[in-house]
Amino acid sequence: MKINSLYLKNFRNYLEETVEFNGGINILTGANAQGKTNIAEAVFFLCTGYSPRANKDKLLIRNGEERAEIKGNATSIYGDVSVKIGFNTKDKKTVYINGVQTLKIGELLGNIHSVFFNPGELKLVQESPEDRRRFLNVSLSQMSKSYFYALARYNKILAQRNNLLKDPEKYIIRETLPIWDRQLTTEAGKIIKARNDFLEKIAPIAETEHALLSGGKESLTMKTESGYYGTEEEIAFALYEDLKVALEKDMRLGFTTIGPHRDDIKFLLNGLDAKVYGSQGQQRTIALSLKIAETETFKERFGEYPILILDDVLSELDKKRQKKLINRVSNMQTIFTTTNIDRTVFKGVDYTKITVENGRIKR
Ligand SMILES: Nc1ncnc2c1ncn2[C@@H]1O[C@H](COP(=O)(O)OP(=O)(O)O)[C@@H](O)[C@H]1O
Ligand SMILES: [Mg+2]
Repeated sequence: MKINSLYLKNFRNYLEETVEFNGGINILTGANAQGKTNIAEAVFFLCTGYSPRANKDKLLIRNGEERAEIKGNATSIYGDVSVKIGFNTKDKKTVYINGVQTLKIGELLGNIHSVFFNPGELKLVQESPEDRRRFLNVSLSQMSKSYFYALARYNKILAQRNNLLKDPEKYIIRETLPIWDRQLTTEAGKIIKARNDFLEKIAPIAETEHALLSGGKESLTMKTESGYYGTEEEIAFALYEDLKVALEKDMRLGFTTIGPHRDDIKFLLNGLDAKVYGSQGQQRTIALSLKIAETETFKERFGEYPILILDDVLSELDKKRQKKLINRVSNMQTIFTTTNIDRTVFKGVDYTKITVENGRIKR
């Protein structure tokens, strides 16, 4: 998968700009706060409709403007695809795929694949389970629309269930819940099964990538803790039974205490919890290994690599690791951002340099 060109209008600090990429290594370079990450962010947004660093679309619209637009052309092994996303401060996004408007945002997913990594992704290891679930959700949604829709339905039913749990009339809860729980656990079965399959695939790859990046000095083990295994139906059934057991507690607390919305992933370095014992550098290497492993799962699923976006990653690695990383990603389109290009690291490597200055591409 390769993005060929990107058009931005009123996106972040860009008024109107077009960026051309090559199919290999691209380096966005320039001083701080010029708009390098904004481009990286726009590419990911084009693929997923989701910004890796802003939780509200309106933050992406150039200050003082009403409406932003991102367009891009990409090439996959199946041919060319063009995507256009428009959004304003109030309404929902409008999405066009190959010129045809799609009304469901889920239809955007899977057209252009990308994996985004920046120093903020350290939260994957450091922060709350929610960040790790987001990783699973974003990644799995790009790989399967049915995951995306199951998750959307699950979240909707879960919100209704949690509302119901707060009802003072306990008999109403007891009467209504079984119906909700059938639907809830059906969706949960799909979600947990997909996550189990994904983690089963990605864990050994991440462990290998980690050995490569860390020079084999440390060994990574990834574990999930959902506690539900088997087919979708088996998982749904087991969770349904567990929900019955948890009902008294759920009513007391006023929310649903078990289910995929509580899942987590554990990272162990040489057997110790990396969240607690890992240094910042070790945690960064884990997060990066996980993202590179993610590119392999795309390759396996779709027969080609996604676009790999590595924002501000080079500056955080020593030269040896930078070289290793560049070598490692040479088989896929990669977009780096960096304040300066170390020529000794990129010696003998083909790349396109894109210089960014104050919301403009310097030509
Ligand atoms: N909605 C917005 N409207 C206008 N400018 C913005 C908006 N959001 C961010 N910026 C500007 O974008 C710049 C940061 O861009 P960024 O891509 O993060 O920089 P860097 O080149 O360091 O990666 C800052 O100057 C910031 O003020
Ligand atoms: Mg930046």
